[in-house]
Amino acid sequence: MKKVILAYSGGLDTSVAIKWLKDRGYEVVAYMADVGQEKTPRAAIDRAKKAGASKVIVRDLKKKFITDYLWPALKAGAVYEGRYVLATALSRPLIAAEQVAVAHQEKATAVAHGCTGKGNDQVRFEVTIQALDSSLEILAPVREWEFRSREEEIQYALRHHIPIDSTKKSPFSIDKNIWGVSVEAGVLEDPNTEPPAESFQWTRGAETRNLKERVVEIGFKKGAPVSLNGKRREPLALIKELNELGAAYGIGRMDMIENRLVGIKSRETYEAPAATLLLQAHRDLESLTLDRELFHFKEGLSQKYAELVYYGLWFTPLRRALDAFIESTQKKVTGSVRVKLRKYSSHVVGRKSPYSLYKESLATYSEKDKFDQRLAKGFIDLWALPYRK
Ligand code: ARG
Repeated sequence: MKKVILAYSGGLDTSVAIKWLKDRGYEVVAYMADVGQEKTPRAAIDRAKKAGASKVIVRDLKKKFITDYLWPALKAGAVYEGRYVLATALSRPLIAAEQVAVAHQEKATAVAHGCTGKGNDQVRFEVTIQALDSSLEILAPVREWEFRSREEEIQYALRHHIPIDSTKKSPFSIDKNIWGVSVEAGVLEDPNTEPPAESFQWTRGAETRNLKERVVEIGFKKGAPVSLNGKRREPLALIKELNELGAAYGIGRMDMIENRLVGIKSRETYEAPAATLLLQAHRDLESLTLDRELFHFKEGLSQKYAELVYYGLWFTPLRRALDAFIESTQKKVTGSVRVKLRKYSSHVVGRKSPYSLYKESLATYSEKDKFDQRLAKGFIDLWALPYRK
C-alpha cells in the first residue's frame, strides 16, 4: 500500500482528509507540527486515530521556527504590504520541510496537505516540497473533493464516524503560531464590516481594560532579541512574554485587504503583539547603529524579502543570499530599545548601543557643538553644481 504523510491540524478538513485518502488506497500517517498554535495535541491525536490514521507523529518545531525563520525575518524587517508580519507564511516552509523529512523517515511516497485551492498556503507547501524532493507525490484533498459546503463535509464525517470537535466551531478561519494569529472568513468577508470583538483571539478584551502606560526594554545582540527589561530570556520565553504583555494592550492588531499570490484580494485580520514590538524595536536600533546608505538600502530589501516569504519562495537561492547579506548587516545591531505601551499602540521612547553612530557633539545645538558649520557652504555649492542655472 502507498503511504502518505498528511500535514494534520486536528481540524475538520484534515480529519476528513484522512478518510478520503484511505478511500483512495493510501495508508495515512498524520503528522502534526507544533509551531505554538496552542491546540491540545492529545485530543487531536485521538481524532486522527479514530479517523483512520495508522500513526500520528508530533514534531515540536518551535525552537527551529524562531532561530531559522523568525529571527531572520525580524532581521530582514519582513512585513508584507506594510502590515502583515507573515506569521502563517513563515511557518509553511518549515512545516513542509519537516514533512519531507518525515516522509523519508517513514519511507512514504506521497505527502498531503489540507489547504484550499484559493489560498497562498497550498503554494508555500508545494513549492517547498518540490524544492526539497520533487519525487514525492503531492495530494491536496480539500482542493479536489466534492463537498460543496461545510454542512456536507460534516455529514460525511458523521456518516464515517470521524469525530468532530465538540467545542463550538468558530465562525472564522484561524491560523495561529507564536508569531501571530491570522483570522479570515465569516463576517470579515465584507471588507467594510468592522471586525467583531469575538474575531480577536489574543487581544480580545483590550477595549474595556483599564491600562496604565508601561515601558518595556528589549535587548538585542547582533540583531536577535536576547533580553527583556535587562533580564536574559530564551527566545521562546521572550516571544511568549511579549505576546502576553502586548496582547493585554491590544497591540499588533491589523485589519487589511491583501493581495494574494493567486490573484485575488482578501480581507484578513491579524494579531501579532510580540512581532509588532520586536520589529519596531529592531528597526529603531538599526536607525542608531547602521549608517545611512546601509539603512536605506536595507529598507528596500525588507519588501523583497517579505514578498519571497509570502510567495512561498523560502527555499530559493535569492532568499538564502539575502539572508547572508542581512546577517552581515547585523554585526552592530546590539543594544537596547525602550518601548512604551499604551492601549492599541506602542512607540519607542529611547535606545542605546555600544555601536551607536549618533554623536551628540555633532548633533547638538548647545555650546558643546563640534560641527563646523562653515563647511556646509562648500558642501552645498558642490552638491548644487549640476543643477546651477
Ligand atoms: N492570508 C495569510 C497568508 O496568506 C494567512 C492565511 C491563513 N489564514 C487563515 N485565516 N487561515 O499568509
